Amino acid sequence: MVSRSRTSAASEVDRVSTGVPGLDSLLGGYPKGKSVMVCGQAGTGKTILALHFVNSRCSRGERTGYIAVEETRDDLFDQAAQFGWDLKSYEDRDLLRTYPILEERMVEAKYQYDSYSAERGFGGLIDLIDRDIENVVIDNLGILALDMNLSHFRQQLDYLVFSLSKRRCTSMFICDETTMSKFGEVALYSVDGAIKLMKRNNPYTDSRERVLEVIKMRRTPTPVDYVTFDIGKGGIEIVP
Ligand SMILES: Nc1ncnc2c1ncn2[C@@H]1O[C@H](COP(=O)(O)OP(=O)(O)OP(=O)(O)O)[C@@H](O)[C@H]1O
Ligand SMILES: [Mg+2]
Repeated sequence: MVSRSRTSAASEVDRVSTGVPGLDSLLGGYPKGKSVMVCGQAGTGKTILALHFVNSRCSRGERTGYIAVEETRDDLFDQAAQFGWDLKSYEDRDLLRTYPILEERMVEAKYQYDSYSAERGFGGLIDLIDRDIENVVIDNLGILALDMNLSHFRQQLDYLVFSLSKRRCTSMFICDETTMSKFGEVALYSVDGAIKLMKRNNPYTDSRERVLEVIKMRRTPTPVDYVTFDIGKGGIEIVP
């Protein structure tokens, strides 16, 4: 835990480290026991940001779950290893549990059956997450919502946020831009925090750069400007 927030304005809120030192300096961490949405186009760094969080929580001995909807466990572990994070060692100590939804989805795709369809909603996810999980990442929630309509999505997301917050589980929902363009306005109200990752042209240097925007973080002073970052040997590094 990052401990209590740096500022008096948010002094009552317990925080957990984002796993990115520069981001902790800006936010004081994520609000403990709450939900944060991470959105952005493909390749903007959503999974890497989540892996920072996972590595940080596990390294402090907190049991953490990763619902991998788009990637295999092995690919996730390989990505983490590139930054020197040994997820296998956490798994061996039962600090990290991966829930390989991708494999299930592929079996279902083969038989054209979808147990995570609109009819089922997100209740199946809650059933999946063990009660002793203290932090969870769902990567990518959007895929499980493709067939939903707006009111269904809002209801289901509210249920997910409510259920996980009752468990005091700090949660990160990754959401692709396709889903955000469909449900974004509604999705952002349900969660406590939202961060958007982007690539953009720097107007001064005329070069491409990675930036993030803290769209919201309840009970937390947030930067209004875009925050520039790089992805290097240690993962995401905030550019001062
Ligand atoms: N070891 C590394 N060093 C530097 N950059 C890397 C490294 N590994 C990955 N990257 C870069 O980080 C980018 C973001 O990766 P990440 O998987 O987090 O994106 P994402 O937003 O989750 O994408 P998707 O929507 O496809 O899941 C990659 O596209 C790649 O350019
Ligand atoms: Mg990803």
